[in-house]
Amino acid sequence: MLEETEYVLIIGSSNMDLNIYSNRFPNSGETVTGGVFKQFLGGKGANQSVASVRSGTRTVFIGKIGIDTFGDQMISQLTKEGINMDHVIRDPEEMSGVAFILIDENGENMISVAPGANFKLSPQEIQSKMSIIENAECVVVQMEIPIDTIKEIFDIASHGDNIKILNPAPLKSLPKEVLEKVDVIIPNKGELFRLHSLLGFKDLTRKEKENIMQASKDIASFGIKYVITTLGDKGCFIFIREENKAIEIAPPVVKAVDTVGAGDCFIGVLASRLCKGDTIINAVKYATVAASIAVTRKGAQASMPFLNEIEAKLKELAIEIE
Ligand code: RIB
Repeated sequence: MLEETEYVLIIGSSNMDLNIYSNRFPNSGETVTGGVFKQFLGGKGANQSVASVRSGTRTVFIGKIGIDTFGDQMISQLTKEGINMDHVIRDPEEMSGVAFILIDENGENMISVAPGANFKLSPQEIQSKMSIIENAECVVVQMEIPIDTIKEIFDIASHGDNIKILNPAPLKSLPKEVLEKVDVIIPNKGELFRLHSLLGFKDLTRKEKENIMQASKDIASFGIKYVITTLGDKGCFIFIREENKAIEIAPPVVKAVDTVGAGDCFIGVLASRLCKGDTIINAVKYATVAASIAVTRKGAQASMPFLNEIEAKLKELAIEIE
């Protein structure tokens, strides 16, 4: 029985990623030719689920997927990964989500998403998943599903004794009642500053690090225990509200070939480790090393490392896990 063992529950999007790798991004109105096309499974929710299950934790995914070829591929591949897909809803009307992604020679990306069925996941459908949400050890949500649905998930999750993680990506305006129920929020730097401004806090006018600290403090004031800001190749900045202190974790230096899904890798691995009872710092160390492996490989889900790879890297780099 699923309810009897600990699991990470990830609710969110599943997309088919259509990637073109080329030297550089085109300017508006310009055509850049000579790129290489590759198709990968993606979507923030599904990516995070693959990162979580590959790092050794039972993982359940809930999302809405079209009844089409892309949708069938998603279900079959995510099931093969070992993710519990029993609670996925198929949409007879909308197509599965699709992302067009450009990747340049530094591995940086530009993404445009047609959410399709992802955006049809309704609050009523979430209500029918109540026990699976309440019994999860850790619930993870991103923002490629409707806001009302996100609100419903956090309302239900707050009945249980679980760790509630929000990845505010792509960022939209968020009701304060949602933030009040979140334990861990994981934005990137741009999302942190935009969320801070959307929430109506005073403008940030100091140096970048001080601004990150101030924005984290302000956002944490809704009752959020940890604000973890991902900083790409600079690692991440963890603000711990209870101790009113920040810790920075630097990543290993690697040559990135594709950064798509690196943030999802970080979040999936973090959730998996927290579900296993790790401290926040240890979980972040695992997540940081995992993301540094993911950026050296192409594709979102395809790039997610397995637990043995993460642990071998932690050992190689002599990163201490207390
Ligand atoms: O975070 C990366 C993901 O964002 C891609 O896989 C794409 O599908 C979009 O959801």
